[in-house]
Amino acid sequence: MPKCNRSHLFCALLTLILVASATAQNPAAISFNTQTKVFRIDAANQTYAFGINDKNALQPVYWGQRLGATDPLAAPHTNDGVASFDSSPTTTPNEYAAWGGGLFVEPALKVSFPDGNRDLVLKYVSHSIRDNELTITMKDIERDLAVDLRYSVDPATGIVGRSAVIVNHTKSVLTIDQAAAATWNLPRGTDYSLRYLTGRWAGEWNLQKQAILPGSIVLESRRGSTGHQNNPWFAIERGDHGDEDSGEVWFGALAWSGSWRITIERDQLQQIRVTGGYNSFDFAYRLQPEQKLETPVFYGGYSHHGIGEASRMLHRFELASILPQAPKPKARPLIYNSWEATEFAVTEPGQEALAEKAASIGVERFVMDDGWFGQRKDDHAGLGDWYVNKEKFPNGLKPLIDKVHALGMDFGLWVEPEMVNPDSDLYRKHPDWVLNFTGRPRSEARNQLVLNLARKDVRDYVFSFLDDILSHNQVAFLKWDYNRNWSEPGWPAVSPEEQKAVYVTYTKNLYGILQELRAKHPGVEIESCSGGGGRVDLGILRYTDEVWPSDNTDPFDRLRIQDGFTYAYTPGVMMAWVTDSPHWLNNRSTSLSYRFLSSMQGSLGIGANLNKWVAEDFSTSKTLIAAYKDIRETVQHGSLYRLVSPRENSEVSVTESVSIDRHQAALFAFLHSSQMGYPFPRVFMKGLDPQQIYRITPISGVAAKDTPATASGTYWMSHGIDVELRGDLQAAAFKFEASAN
Ligand code: DGJ
Repeated sequence: MPKCNRSHLFCALLTLILVASATAQNPAAISFNTQTKVFRIDAANQTYAFGINDKNALQPVYWGQRLGATDPLAAPHTNDGVASFDSSPTTTPNEYAAWGGGLFVEPALKVSFPDGNRDLVLKYVSHSIRDNELTITMKDIERDLAVDLRYSVDPATGIVGRSAVIVNHTKSVLTIDQAAAATWNLPRGTDYSLRYLTGRWAGEWNLQKQAILPGSIVLESRRGSTGHQNNPWFAIERGDHGDEDSGEVWFGALAWSGSWRITIERDQLQQIRVTGGYNSFDFAYRLQPEQKLETPVFYGGYSHHGIGEASRMLHRFELASILPQAPKPKARPLIYNSWEATEFAVTEPGQEALAEKAASIGVERFVMDDGWFGQRKDDHAGLGDWYVNKEKFPNGLKPLIDKVHALGMDFGLWVEPEMVNPDSDLYRKHPDWVLNFTGRPRSEARNQLVLNLARKDVRDYVFSFLDDILSHNQVAFLKWDYNRNWSEPGWPAVSPEEQKAVYVTYTKNLYGILQELRAKHPGVEIESCSGGGGRVDLGILRYTDEVWPSDNTDPFDRLRIQDGFTYAYTPGVMMAWVTDSPHWLNNRSTSLSYRFLSSMQGSLGIGANLNKWVAEDFSTSKTLIAAYKDIRETVQHGSLYRLVSPRENSEVSVTESVSIDRHQAALFAFLHSSQMGYPFPRVFMKGLDPQQIYRITPISGVAAKDTPATASGTYWMSHGIDVELRGDLQAAAFKFEASAN
């Protein structure tokens, strides 16, 4: 960018023209070079290239920073292997390697034919390019098994989506033993490290980092759903010097909410590859003649501005391309949820009293949680019986819903559609509807069993009771919970050979129900919750507007939970409630403003027992909720900068969100505990427009006395700002607004 010494307006115009012309010169493009037989996907700052090699296999060529349009990318050649132990299929990088011909690395596809043949070697047949989509058809060297490899590209971020469709054109039934969506190949190297997310109930979203050494690292869920323990996201950095803003990062996320696996390998030739898709553990999918299996999509992207930019790319992509309301999702309404206040003890007057209090502070959506249906007094009974409990709501839900509407809020309801308590009318009537192996124990967790959604009758039942609730009540929102993982995943109603398809069919039916419900009730929004963050992935996010990251609402723990969450997912879907103090989990006491500021970094909600609040709590909340509404668009849909991470027992934590037009920013600073009288470290903002003048306004807390009321973006980013924070569990937040002068 040239130096600009004239007026700000002139500079701004010049910048606009330059950016516009750069975009015009650099539009997204998918091309095929007929000489070299190389495919190129160029978009945003990324080039992804692979070609048809001398053996007609698809071989990766390049993935990284966008190359010049005329940069030469030579035709790929097979590697003949370095010894008799390292055969060519293993040493030659492959876009989508089938298990056959001597492949020892992780295959993308493995099949068994009925005659005992398990050898599969895929060759290029044809391709088509349409707009931002490329499809390549591959076929086995001998059998009529075809695989369509699909590529799509997001022009704004360069993120590429890859999936495979496996089609059986033979005359007999075959079995797919293993199927990935894609293999991502990185440039050969020895200095890579992997970031990934681990967790457990009430302790999700821990960011891990480890060197990628020779061998394999497996991230997975065998649980039937995404799981708290690993999340289907990865980021790989090259070298030791990468941080939030610098370094090369290759990242990816698998859009699948069933059992999944991502394998990261470094092989004997220092080749790095990441293969992800269905988990092959206990997996088998039979394909009848002319039947096909479509894998989930595995998205991949590249940033050369560090992991911070990689996260922002994913956030933008999720908002603009994944969420059901994409490309312009509505900001999350401010919700009140009754769970922590009442647990199962919901009643009409009790909920109405909470609703009145919630409305008085600016809540926009009132959500009644668990306990309103069947014989649900605790978690021992009732799941599956989706009729309103007459003892608790003698006149149905209408009086409560009307009251909530009269208070100016919309109404949301908790459901857990995929589960059943053995103590329920549904289970007594249909004991065969759950996952089970005939004659074997049915292991309960939270006193419940998993309904087998792969069964058509179960799928239809679940759709119809939800459709019924939505058709007969003015419900604007469903909190869709899922509180256990699978055990004994049998499906006795189909033949033994068909049963393992449950891992695919269950999840596809879940998506189908969500899709159909949304189509029939277009105004309804849905939250994905699984005992907290057990089902968060790009698959479920196609059908749900928000997610519940964790049952742990301790505002201090939440700093770390939310920090980890944002590596993969946008704050625009990250629900964060203000709850009671001391907190039920850690018995930690925090001020109401600390709790608010922690939650205001995401999509704010209230989950406290408002019946215990005093007048001052209501007035503090009212003020902070009004302040949040003013910055909500920036926090939820803007660019997030993790300025100081709360990880590794950091005493401080700072985040900043900048609106897309860079006119507004919000800064949140947290102090765990003052030590030795040290002042809070100076905060250097990021992502502001250097030329713009921004006015600082405190939302809560104060800046140092000599902080100017207005200063340029350069000032806030280079000079920085001193925040006055001392003591234990303190927090401050500021709004920055660009002004003309
Ligand atoms: C688990 C969820 O994560 C909680 O928020 C709450 O909805 C309970 N289930 C209700 O049973």
